[in-house]
Amino acid sequence: MEKSIAFLNGLPIAAAVISTDQRLAVANALFSKAMGADLLGRHFITAFRQPDVIEAIEQVFADGAPLMVPFQAGAHGIATSYDMHITAVDQMVMVSLIDRTDAENTGRLRTDFIANVSHELRTPLTALAGFIETLRGAARNDPAAQDRFLGLMDAEAGRMTQLVNELMTLSKLEGNGYQQPRAVIDLRDVVQAARNTLDLIAVKSDIALDCTLPGSAVQIIGDEGELRQVVINLVENALKYGCDGGRVMIAVDPVTHHTPIRGQGAKLTIADQGHGIAPHHIARLTERFYRVDAHRSRAVGGVGLGLAIVKHIVNRHRGRLKITSQSGQGTTITVILPA
Ligand SMILES: Nc1ncnc2c1ncn2[C@@H]1O[C@H](COP(=O)(O)OP(=O)(O)OP(=O)(O)O)[C@@H](O)[C@H]1O
Ligand SMILES: [Mg+2]
Repeated sequence: MEKSIAFLNGLPIAAAVISTDQRLAVANALFSKAMGADLLGRHFITAFRQPDVIEAIEQVFADGAPLMVPFQAGAHGIATSYDMHITAVDQMVMVSLIDRTDAENTGRLRTDFIANVSHELRTPLTALAGFIETLRGAARNDPAAQDRFLGLMDAEAGRMTQLVNELMTLSKLEGNGYQQPRAVIDLRDVVQAARNTLDLIAVKSDIALDCTLPGSAVQIIGDEGELRQVVINLVENALKYGCDGGRVMIAVDPVTHHTPIRGQGAKLTIADQGHGIAPHHIARLTERFYRVDAHRSRAVGGVGLGLAIVKHIVNRHRGRLKITSQSGQGTTITVILPA
């Protein structure tokens, strides 16, 4: 028996042996960890409880041909999906568990992602098709209406372009996820470079952009293009969801010692005086396509990928992203980047 435990412990997966008396006789440490240590000595029917699994084990006891069945376990309150492999060993039966949870989650994420992308593309496409129909029909001889519809079509095409651009940025970032940026850059330059783009939007939405940069260089290790994207996405949100006529603040500060990044670095702060975000949304904002109010966000041209991109870039820089906000009180976003 001692030897069997040693053999099972040598396996990289959870495994146990059901002896001829149909009770769990031996289990390795991974099996006890996954299923609980109290299963030893129990009859396999009370140990596994799932009809398909019990039937399969009985079958293997009867004819010795190996079987594989899906098995759901819920130790420590975490649902886990396994493939249970059941094989005959002498007169006994060995069960081993292969964790399928990650593969299943990845599959689900991919399906959700495709559904979201299709949905986001279908909305502007439907609108475009409708406008084309109107231009061919009711508005055929109405130059003023034609002008208006072409303007709307331009905006819809712009939405699709933005969605495709953001998707390409995400896929590029995921492609080199493990390559850490190496260049030494000045975070003030990054903010300055983003300002040209942002000043235009700020003027349009009648919001004052306050930019506070220190007098000397704030050096960090990073990718200038990616960090410019971070600044643009965050300030664009502040301008879009900050109330008209308000103020958006951008600040860069050196950080001499910060525990989460273990040392020196820089802090980028972007604050607005908008309607804020209710606490229960904050943790989910960086999920792809997550929007607090999809209607409102779509109306200002948002597809819900901006913060997902920010989070990705900050992670690649081994930085930290913090969002603090209260409904009605504005939002402050802080990015800490290591030097
Ligand atoms: N400064 C802010 N104030 C209030 N709500 C915000 C702010 N920033 C983001 N949000 C909320 O978080 C959601 C997600 O933001 P995100 O930037 O990821 O997407 P988006 O702005 O809708 O679209 P995209 O940035 O892809 O064009 C927004 O839809 C909005 O509801
Ligand atoms: Mg955004």
